[in-house]
Amino acid sequence: MPDPVPAYPPVHMPDVPHRRLLEGQTAIVTGASSGIGRAVAISLGGAGANVCVNYVSGPDAAQAVVAEIQGLGGKAFAQAADVSKEADVIAMFDAVRREYGTVDILINNAGLQQDSKIEDMTLAQWQKVIDVNLTGQFLCAREAVREFKKRGVRPEISCAAGKIICMSSVHEVIPWGGHVNYAASKGGVMLMMKSIAQEVAPWRIRVNSICPGAIRTPINTAAWDTPEHYAALMKLIPYKRIGEAPEIGRVAVWLASDDSDYIHGVSLFVDGGMTLYPGFETGG
Ligand code: BGC
Repeated sequence: MPDPVPAYPPVHMPDVPHRRLLEGQTAIVTGASSGIGRAVAISLGGAGANVCVNYVSGPDAAQAVVAEIQGLGGKAFAQAADVSKEADVIAMFDAVRREYGTVDILINNAGLQQDSKIEDMTLAQWQKVIDVNLTGQFLCAREAVREFKKRGVRPEISCAAGKIICMSSVHEVIPWGGHVNYAASKGGVMLMMKSIAQEVAPWRIRVNSICPGAIRTPINTAAWDTPEHYAALMKLIPYKRIGEAPEIGRVAVWLASDDSDYIHGVSLFVDGGMTLYPGFETGG
């Protein structure tokens, strides 16, 4: 039997016009100068949000994201901050308050990989990934909760006082040999997110995670850059295609909007079925 879909080249999804679900809201997107963060920032801007495009290096790429949002008729500015540094995070929230008055949405996206076999992993590699991927999300979430609690709900803007979306990964549940620092950071994000969600729900602060699978971005180029690599990747994805960054953007818009107001404390997997134990399709 032929394959139901051609394996390579992958399917390209057209970007669709965004409904302006986030009109009048202000969002901070960390790590927004490339990859998933970039796509999420553009989607949020297209949905009517004012966007703080956070980056840690490469101001030109961040400025290009700002220009793209402005091209959609949105408002945006770029703000450098290392999310693992407390002073940087506080300064970023101050800058956003100066620019737009308050913050409604935090997309806790900044993250990185530093891969190594366990026996070769340096303490610096372990620490860097935990610092950015986990401590960085904590520091930003803490500032967001402080802002949301102080301001409370403005019913004309949103029925929630604020929304936090943590960019986690399928690797918050799928163990990943050779990437123990990364998997540990995302496992940590899962219970950090759910614990914050439990604590702040009475203030109408919504906290959730998006857990992407394999999305075509610079972080995982080696997984899709040749037909052979792409074919190997497809063994892990029942839906038989890689994900595209704007797909995460669209999910983020919806999860930040009042359309999903009753969703709270949830890890939303956007992974083409990667978490369905594809090895068991025929085995077991
Ligand atoms: C990682 C990618 C990987 C994907 C699926 C993501 O969290 O950053 O490198 O391709 O998980 O394994």
